[in-house]
Amino acid sequence: MLIDIVTIFPEVARAPLSESIMGRAIDSGLLKLRVHDLREWTTDRHRKVDDEPYGGGPGMVMKPEPFFRAVRELRSGGGGATKVVMMTPGGRRFEQAIARSYAAAPGVHLIVLCGHYEGVDHRVTEALVDDELSIGDYVLTNGALAAAVFVDAVVRLLPGALGDERSSEEESFAVGEGLLEAPCYTRPAEFEGMPVPEVLLSGHHGKIAKWRAEQSRSRTQQNRPDLIGEPESPH
Ligand code: ADE
Repeated sequence: MLIDIVTIFPEVARAPLSESIMGRAIDSGLLKLRVHDLREWTTDRHRKVDDEPYGGGPGMVMKPEPFFRAVRELRSGGGGATKVVMMTPGGRRFEQAIARSYAAAPGVHLIVLCGHYEGVDHRVTEALVDDELSIGDYVLTNGALAAAVFVDAVVRLLPGALGDERSSEEESFAVGEGLLEAPCYTRPAEFEGMPVPEVLLSGHHGKIAKWRAEQSRSRTQQNRPDLIGEPESPH
């Protein structure tokens, strides 16, 4: 899968994607990741990427020209279908089902654009962007972290990215009807007076599956009641 990230903070996007599973996906050729500095596509001496908003108001708006140049150049180098994603708190909420749909199309060249400041000139969104994604209802200082989150969530779902394929099938949000995962334990069987639940040591697969299903349900009720159609508890 070919992914280009365009940001004014390339190191912020690059660092989390160079470790562990992502690093392995790159080494094995499953992922070709290129992180670009948007300023490469400025033409002025100051490499200016933002300007004051029309209509007034605080903050700066990112200029359209560098984004247009970047997308045109990257598109022409990809060879094949391209999708342009903009990371923005104003996008649709990114979730596992969206990650799965991107991972199901590994032949598509993804160009991920990151905003900063108060926003990005809307002509970029209108003319270039296929999908606007928000990683949650909070505002980050820039989209580079959000891009790393998006890419990580997609790439780990590519066949062969994880050592054990079952890990991505059984985890939270992929369990049956969308419940959270049951708690898990490893050795030692007792640690500082806290024993591992007896049933997990029993070797009885039916009982273990039942225990996990119950735990999934109660954990979901406790932490994410919205997933099972119940009102969220007050904070
Ligand atoms: N940029 C700033 N905040 C963001 C968010 N929550 N999701 C995606 N991009 C962002």
